[in-house]
Amino acid sequence: MKRNNIAKLVAGVAAGVALVAALAGCGSTTTSGSSAPATTSASTGSYKLVESGKLTVMGNWYFPPFESMNESTGVAEGFDIDLANAIASKMGLTANILPSTQFDTLVPTIKQGGKADVSISGITITDERKKEIDFSDPYLDSNQSIVVKSGAAAQSIAALNVSGKKVAVQSGTTGESWAKENLPNATVVPLDDVIQAMTGVQTGLYDAVCADLPVTSYLIKNSYGDLVIPEGCQIATGEQYGVVVSKDNPALTTAINKALSDMKSDGTMDQLETKWFGKVL
Ligand code: ARG
Repeated sequence: MKRNNIAKLVAGVAAGVALVAALAGCGSTTTSGSSAPATTSASTGSYKLVESGKLTVMGNWYFPPFESMNESTGVAEGFDIDLANAIASKMGLTANILPSTQFDTLVPTIKQGGKADVSISGITITDERKKEIDFSDPYLDSNQSIVVKSGAAAQSIAALNVSGKKVAVQSGTTGESWAKENLPNATVVPLDDVIQAMTGVQTGLYDAVCADLPVTSYLIKNSYGDLVIPEGCQIATGEQYGVVVSKDNPALTTAINKALSDMKSDGTMDQLETKWFGKVL
């Protein structure tokens, strides 16, 4: 199946999830992404914004249920998109969700500045990334997983850590780092996104996928019934997702942390988890 078809399928499933009460002022606009150059950055309060009145958000929108492209509307949707809209609304801003970007360019682009204010994209807080950019407080816990085709010969980490086995990952992710470190004998294949990796295992191109557990389990449940996470292949890495902000904009990180803590105490976070995961995580 083509990636777009999968994305559409996934988006459809996500859209079918019962809607919770609409968050105040969560309308977002999608633009061409040709954002204003850094020199026109407007100041709002003590933090800087690429475009005045807007929280400009970039991400890789192929990571359901955190983010996926609704191919019929051309608009990104998911937990992180709702989160971005809710954060913006708490700050009295409108979220401007830019078109999908390659995952491994997100941190460097925020670091460079001028294109987006933040990246919200299921991004794990790591010490290495913290050298380049700032993270907000964590908003969700995550772990890794290994996915194989049901009935495949290699159904364990040990069986995959063998010369000739191909393990697909999304380029630049913590899944890629985990696979490189823990499956040194296998060939780790970096791809553009997890959908492509899952489809590749389905068609026999790769032996396994290593990616975030909430995403692989969602995809298996909704679109990839012939793939499984074998016993022992849920890997407790204890990752946490945070919003990525430039080190040049500490007041923005502070404002986002305030919005996140308000959302935790006023029930917004629980609502979003229930909407996208069917339960409070
Ligand atoms: N949590 C992992 C990481 O930070 C994977 C994130 C992938 N996100 C995405 N939207 N594709 O490396």
